[in-house]
Amino acid sequence: MAKEDDERKPKSAPWTEFFWNPRTHEVMGRTASSWGLIILFYLVFYTFLAGMFVLTMYVMLCTIDEYKPTYQDRLAIPGLMIRPKGELMEIIYNIEDTESWDKYIQKLDNFLAPYNDSVQAQKNDVCTPDSFFYQEDSGEVRNNPKRSCQFNRTMLGSCSGLGSESDVRTYGYGTGQPCIFIKLNRVIGMLPGKGQAPYVSCGPKMYKIGPDEWNQDTDKIGELEYFPTNGSYNFMYYPFYGIRAQVNYSQPLVAVKFTNITYNTDVNVECKIISDTITEYSERDKFAGRVSFRLRINKNI
Ligand SMILES: *[C@@H]1O[C@H](CO)[C@@H](O)[C@H](O)[C@H]1NC(C)=O
Ligand SMILES: *[C@@H]1O[C@H](CO)[C@@H](O)[C@H](O)[C@H]1NC(C)=O
Ligand SMILES: *[C@@H]1O[C@H](CO)[C@@H](O)[C@H](O)[C@H]1NC(C)=O
Ligand SMILES: *[C@@H]1O[C@H](CO)[C@@H](O)[C@H](O)[C@H]1NC(C)=O
Ligand SMILES: *[C@@H]1O[C@H](CO)[C@@H](O)[C@H](O)[C@H]1NC(C)=O
Repeated sequence: MAKEDDERKPKSAPWTEFFWNPRTHEVMGRTASSWGLIILFYLVFYTFLAGMFVLTMYVMLCTIDEYKPTYQDRLAIPGLMIRPKGELMEIIYNIEDTESWDKYIQKLDNFLAPYNDSVQAQKNDVCTPDSFFYQEDSGEVRNNPKRSCQFNRTMLGSCSGLGSESDVRTYGYGTGQPCIFIKLNRVIGMLPGKGQAPYVSCGPKMYKIGPDEWNQDTDKIGELEYFPTNGSYNFMYYPFYGIRAQVNYSQPLVAVKFTNITYNTDVNVECKIISDTITEYSERDKFAGRVSFRLRINKNI
């Protein structure tokens, strides 16, 4: 305030005196030593802040394990996902209209290419089935990269898309017996069962049709066939150690083939993972341990 008053009263003083006052030797209203102290203060202050920042970053980075997330949502139940997958969880096509299902074939061809037996033989190991494939680190000594087990495309049988028969080649889409592939989402360190391997079970989904009315497409879903046998995820593909550690990991798949589904109508399907370590399914998270989708196969009558 004092400074402003000074400036207003002596009108004779030119405005340039604000920048350099020859009488008081002030630069912009402060003496050199005053400026010096201010600059010194901010210098120390910002150096301190920068130091704090570097220190916290350093401490934080020290606690990060580059091979697995420090914090991981411990999902009690892993999610399920289907392939082929569109915007909506539905697969709708007309058997006679090749174009309507060709997009599914293309997606599946791309999706399954990394599972070709030759690719798997090159990248992954033949493991002992039915037991977990542990590759723990011994203390600080990393056991990386870790090996992964082969999941061969031929294990998907008539859902493999391999061979010359057009039914198999089109994953059954061309003959109205489509295959849907089910993935169990990867969770680092998860052991998805104890005694018996977890398996997929699909069936009609309960859906609401009125305030207290429910329906199920029980009579429309028809028989289902599962690949590999029993629709199970073998224990040898677990535990998963993270893609940084287990570079060639191939997620195991289960294929479900709808062999006698009713045509020209919607069929609501729900697939669940059945495991002796999963006792209940969350009502809130509809992807936890299960997945539902709509199938509609049209056929010109
Ligand atoms: C996988 O095998 C199929 C059929 O044998 C072949 O057409 C395709 O090119 C192969 N893909 C890769 C990535 O090897
Ligand atoms: C996968 O296929 C390769 C080559 O055909 C074979 O050597 C290997 O035993 C198969 N692996 C499994 C797990 O079936
Ligand atoms: C991953 O696959 C490549 C071949 O694509 C192979 O050379 C490498 O040894 C594999 N690594 C592991 C850890 O399995
Ligand atoms: C399929 O399940 C049956 C009964 O649970 C079991 O005896 C059989 O060994 C299983 N087969 C495979 C290949 O897992
Ligand atoms: C297919 O399902 C129909 C009923 O939707 C049934 O009449 C028929 O016997 C079934 N065919 C086979 C081979 O199971």
